[in-house]
Amino acid sequence: MRIISLASTVLFLLSFSTFANAEQHDFEALKNKYYADHPGKGKYADLWEPIPIQQYWNPVTFYKPPQTLKAEVKAADCVTCHKGITPGWVHAWQDSTHANLDEIRNLSSSDSRHYKKAKLEEIEAGLQKRGVLKKGQKLSEVGCIDCHAGVGKKSMKHHVDLRMPDRAACGECHVQEFAEAEAEKAQKWPQDQWSEGHPSHAMDWKANVETGIWAGMSQREVAQGCDMCHYQQNKCDGCHTRHTFSAAEARKPEACATCHNGVDHNEFEGYMYSKHGVIYETSGKADWDFEVQLKDAITKGGYTAPTCAWCHFEFNGEFSHNLVRKVRWAFNPTPAIADNLDHPWFEERKVAWIGTCSNCHSPRFSKAWLDTADKGTIQGLEVEQEAKKIVQKLYDDGLMVGQKTNRPAPPAPEKDAPGAFFGLFWAKGNNPSFVDRTHAEMWEHDLIKHYKGLFHVNPGGFTYSEGWARLMRRYTEIQDANTRIREMDALKKQVKALSK
Ligand code: HEC
Ligand code: HEC
Ligand code: HEC
Ligand code: HEC
Ligand code: HEC
Ligand code: HEC
Ligand code: HEC
Ligand code: HEC
Repeated sequence: MRIISLASTVLFLLSFSTFANAEQHDFEALKNKYYADHPGKGKYADLWEPIPIQQYWNPVTFYKPPQTLKAEVKAADCVTCHKGITPGWVHAWQDSTHANLDEIRNLSSSDSRHYKKAKLEEIEAGLQKRGVLKKGQKLSEVGCIDCHAGVGKKSMKHHVDLRMPDRAACGECHVQEFAEAEAEKAQKWPQDQWSEGHPSHAMDWKANVETGIWAGMSQREVAQGCDMCHYQQNKCDGCHTRHTFSAAEARKPEACATCHNGVDHNEFEGYMYSKHGVIYETSGKADWDFEVQLKDAITKGGYTAPTCAWCHFEFNGEFSHNLVRKVRWAFNPTPAIADNLDHPWFEERKVAWIGTCSNCHSPRFSKAWLDTADKGTIQGLEVEQEAKKIVQKLYDDGLMVGQKTNRPAPPAPEKDAPGAFFGLFWAKGNNPSFVDRTHAEMWEHDLIKHYKGLFHVNPGGFTYSEGWARLMRRYTEIQDANTRIREMDALKKQVKALSK
C-alpha cells in the first residue's frame, strides 16, 4: 500500500514539478522579506557588542567599508589594483565561471556543464525584465563591482559604497536558488516541536544570536566561533566558497564538513565511515562527474552511492536548496517528536525518504533500515529520559553538589536549570555540577551521535564507539552520583539528628 502510494506521489510530483523559473519569482518581494525576517542582533541585542571580524560573518547588520582607500574607483580598475593587493582572490575569480560567461555560451551539448547555458539565459532574461540590463543586452561577466557594490555599477566610492555580498546580493541574479533557500522559512512543525522555520540554513543566524548563553557570554572571541557555522542566513559562500563559486565543490560531501562535524552533529564522520562514504572515497573521487546536476547524478554522473547533497537536496525526485522538506528528527531526538511519528506530517516525510533510498535499494530494504533507525533512536531516547528524571529530582531536592553553597546563577538572559545547554559553554563554582554536565553531554552529544550514526548507516557510530556505549557510560555516572549524593544526604541528616 505504502509503496503504491509512494509511487503515485512521486509520479504526481514529477509531472507538476517543473522547477519554478526565475521569471515566476518576484525578486523585490523576496529581497524585502529577506531583510524583514532578518533578526540583526536578535532579541538579546542589548547584551553584546560585535567584534570586528563579525562584520564579515554578518555583513547584513555590521559591515562597514575600510577607510584605507578614499577614492572613486572604476569597474575596470578593481582587477588591476587588486592583482597587487589580494592576488589570490583575483586568480580564483579569473578561473571561475563568473569571469568566463562566454565559455558557457560556447559549450557543446555533450558537455556536462551545458545545462548552465539555459541558466545564464534565464538570469539575463530576469535582469532585462527588471531593467538592470537593457533589452537584448548580455552579461559580459560578473565582476568584482557587481557583487561588491551592485549589479551593473560602473564605478563606486571605495570607502562608502563597498559591501560584502549577502544572500540578496547573490539572489539578484540567482533568483531561483535564493527563492528555494528562503522557502525553508515556511517549515511549520505539526506539534510546535520547533518554532517556524527552524532548524534551517535560512534561520541559522537567528538560532545562534537568540541562544541565551551565546549572547550572555563575556568571552566574545570564543562566542563568535558559533557564527562561523551559523552564517548561512547572511551569505551564500558556505558550500560554494569565494571566489571560485563552484557548484561541483558544493556537490561533494567535504563542502558540508566544516559545519556538520563534531560532538553534537557528526554527520560528516558518520557518513564518511559508512559504506556510502567509503564508496564515495574509493570510486566517487576518481570516477564520478561532479559537474553534472544532482538530478542526473545517478544516470549521467555515475554516482553508485549517495552524497550529502544528493540525499538532502532531493524531495520526491526534485532537487532544491530547500533542505528541510524531509526533516523529521532534526537536530536532536525529543519525546515531542518520538510520540508523534505516526502523524501524517512525519509519515509523509518518511515515505519520501523511502523513495530517496529506493533509487538504489529496494523499497522493502529501505523501509526496514529506516524503521530500525527510528526504533534505535527511540531506544536511546528512553535511556536519556530516564537519566533526565534523576537529574531533575536531584535539582528539585536541592541536592546538586554545591547547590546551596556554591552555585552562582548563569549570566543573563540564562536562568538556572539542571543539565542545561549553558553548562557546555559557561562554568563558575559548582555550576554546572558533574551531574548537570554529564546530563548535558548525554542529550546534546551522545544521543545525537547515536541518532545520526543510525540514520547515516555507520554501525560503529551507534554501537561501541559512539552513541549507545556513551549513553551507557553517562547513565552509570549519573546513577552512581545519585546514589552517593543521596547516601551522603542521609548520613548528614543522621549526624544532624544525633548531634541534637
Ligand atoms: C587603487 C587600488 C584599488 C582599487 C582600484 C580598488 N581597490 Fe579594493 N582595496 C584596495 C585596498 C588597498 C584594500 C585593502 C583595505 C584594507 O584592508 O584596509 C581594498 C579592499 C577591498 C575589499 C575588501 C574590504 C574589506 O572589508 O575587507 C574589497 C571587497 C574591494 N577592495 C573591492 C574592490 C572593488 C569592487 C573595486 C573596483 C570597483 C576595488 N576594490 C578597487 C585597493 C583598491
Ligand atoms: C560572485 C560575487 C563575488 C565576486 C564577483 C567577487 N566577490 Fe569578493 N567576496 C564575495 C563574498 C561572498 C565575500 C565574503 C563576504 C563575507 O564574508 O561577508 C567576498 C569577500 C571579499 C573580500 C574580503 C574578505 C576576505 O576574505 O578578504 C575581498 C578582499 C574580496 N572579496 C575581493 C574581491 C575582488 C578583488 C573581486 C574581483 C576580482 C571580487 N572580490 C569579486 C563575493 C564576490
Ligand atoms: C550579475 C549576476 C550574478 C551575480 C550577482 C552572482 N552570480 Fe553566480 N552566476 C551568474 C551566472 C550568469 C552564472 C552562470 C550560470 C549558472 O551556472 O547558473 C553563475 C554561476 C554561479 C555558480 C555556478 C558556477 C559553476 O561553475 O559551477 C555558483 C555556485 C554561483 N554563481 C554562486 C553565486 C554566489 C554565491 C553569488 C553571490 C556571492 C553569485 N553567484 C552572484 C551570475 C551572477
Ligand atoms: C557554513 C556552515 C554550514 C555548511 C557548509 C553546511 N551547513 Fe547545514 N547547517 C548549518 C547550521 C548552522 C545548521 C543549523 C541551522 C539552525 O540553527 O537552525 C544547518 C542545518 C542543516 C540542515 C537542517 C537540520 C535540521 O535539524 O533540520 C540540513 C539538512 C543541513 N544543514 C544539511 C547540509 C548539507 C547537506 C550541507 C552540504 C551540502 C550543509 N548542510 C552545509 C551549517 C552549515
Ligand atoms: C548547503 C550548501 C549550499 C548552500 C548554503 C548554497 N548552495 Fe548553491 N548549490 C549547492 C549545491 C549542492 C548545488 C548543486 C545543485 C544541483 O546540482 O542540483 C548548488 C547549485 C547552485 C547554483 C547552480 C549553479 C550551476 O551552475 O549549477 C547556483 C547559482 C547556486 N547554487 C547559488 C546559491 C546561492 C545564491 C546561495 C545562497 C542563497 C546558495 N547557492 C547557497 C549547495 C549550496
Ligand atoms: C543516504 C542518504 C543520506 C546521506 C548520504 C546523508 N544523509 Fe543526512 N540524513 C539522512 C537521513 C535519512 C536522516 C534522518 C532524517 C530524519 O528522519 O529526520 C538524516 C539526517 C541529517 C541531518 C538532520 C536533519 C534531518 O533531516 O533530520 C543533517 C543535518 C544531515 N543529515 C546532514 C548530512 C550531511 C552533512 C551528510 C554528509 C556528510 C549527510 N547528511 C549524508 C540521510 C542521508
Ligand atoms: C561546527 C559548526 C557549528 C558550531 C561551531 C556551532 N553550531 Fe549550532 N548547529 C550547527 C549545526 C550543523 C546544527 C544543526 C545540526 C543538525 O540538525 O543536525 C546546529 C544547530 C544549532 C541550534 C538548533 C537549531 C535551531 O534552529 O534552533 C542552535 C540553537 C545552535 N546550533 C546554536 C549554536 C550556538 C549558540 C553555538 C555556539 C555556542 C553553536 N551553535 C555552534 C553547527 C554549528
Ligand atoms: C545511489 C545509490 C544508493 C542510495 C540512493 C542509497 N544507498 Fe545505501 N548503499 C548503497 C551501496 C552501494 C551500499 C553498499 C552495499 C554493499 O555493502 O554491498 C549501501 C549500503 C547501505 C547499507 C548497509 C547495509 C549493506 O547492505 O551493506 C544500508 C543500511 C543502507 N545502504 C541504507 C540506505 C538508506 C537508508 C538510504 C536512503 C536514506 C540509502 N541507503 C540510499 C547505495 C545507495
